[in-house]
Amino acid sequence: MARTLLVTGGAGFIGSHLVRRLVQRYPDYRILNLDLLTYAGNLENLRDIEDADNYTFVKGDICDSSLLQNLFRDYGIDGVIHLAAESHVDRSILNPTAFVTTNVLGTVTLLNAARQAWGDRDDVRFYHVSTDEVYGSLRDGEYFLETTAYNPQSPYSASKAASDHFVRAYGNTYGFPFVISNCSNNYGPYQFPEKLLPLFIANIVQEKALPVYGQGLNVRDWLWVEDHCAAIDLIFHQGQNGETYNIGGRNEWKNIDLIHLLCRKMDEKLGRPAGHSASLIRYVTDRPGHDMRYAIDPSKLERELGWTPSLTFEEGLARTIDWYLSHQEWVNRVQSGAYQDYYQEQYGTR
Ligand code: NAD
Ligand code: TYD
Repeated sequence: MARTLLVTGGAGFIGSHLVRRLVQRYPDYRILNLDLLTYAGNLENLRDIEDADNYTFVKGDICDSSLLQNLFRDYGIDGVIHLAAESHVDRSILNPTAFVTTNVLGTVTLLNAARQAWGDRDDVRFYHVSTDEVYGSLRDGEYFLETTAYNPQSPYSASKAASDHFVRAYGNTYGFPFVISNCSNNYGPYQFPEKLLPLFIANIVQEKALPVYGQGLNVRDWLWVEDHCAAIDLIFHQGQNGETYNIGGRNEWKNIDLIHLLCRKMDEKLGRPAGHSASLIRYVTDRPGHDMRYAIDPSKLERELGWTPSLTFEEGLARTIDWYLSHQEWVNRVQSGAYQDYYQEQYGTR
């Protein structure tokens, strides 16, 4: 069936992998990518598919209701996969309001536009891409299930929890057709070098300090970004309306163990003496309100939709390191903030 899908935030880390996958796998779909190109969004991430016949990019804000109304009217959108968000916990601690604006108000603006355009149609779907951080922090032996009560602890996770609640409220109140997924920490190419893995890879290359928050004992559950996108594709097409699916690869790492593994791999790749990268580790003041542990139980997704991760962590980490080492210019450009100039030069006429 031919479809027109609106992907929001498609120039970001996860969004760019998802847009590439959809454009390549579904030649009879039209994929519309709406992205504001904040510091986190780069069209360079989609250079290889930008000329595809079934792909259209629109620069714009999910808070702009008239733009959204026009897009729904002009393109006949019949599916939304919503990823656009402010996504970094440390930034949310410095400026919570930006997270309320984009993540809460932006999501509600998008819900309103979709509801207005779709009326009572039941052949449409709104997919909200969310995070496991909405559930709060776990003790040892506990896992996040779809039924776990929300207990967000950071301004970022509070804003994502609020947006999840609005999506469900629209389902309950207006019969609006939605699905939600809550995923663990992603890693892979094109992740902005403010998140742990790409930041530390960049710092090791540049021989800068590696700032480990607190004692490095916090635990995160890491998933290869393309496995997240495969799950989104599956849930969008085969999930049940009104349902939530947790996505994770059963891959928990204590931060300091992961950092030591990364340091060893980087020494090998860069031909530096063993222990060189680890000597850059610096324990710094902990992140305020730092969640201790996240871990997903993905049984529902595995059982009901047959999803499994495609890569081992060792392979994914090696691919990630190789990608960053061969894309130093991308790292330098996005880190220096020079991306907006680059964008103007490359894409200024669009
Ligand atoms: P990202 O920060 O890399 O990308 C966000 C994208 O949204 C950028 O391209 C940015 O330009 C765009 N954007 C921001 N504000 C916008 C606005 N007002 N209008 C239109 N576009 C806007 O984020 P990511 O890591 O790719 O995360 C994507 C989504 O997945 C987010 O909703 C996030 O909460 C969720 N998520 C992320 C992870 C993770 O580990 N990164 C895990 C689970 C869920
Ligand atoms: P991050 O990649 O910011 O993801 P999240 O906070 O959404 O889980 O951080 C992953 C873990 O690494 C988290 O426990 C915080 C920690 N961390 C550091 O110790 N130092 C850093 O410089 C960063 C960015 C994160």
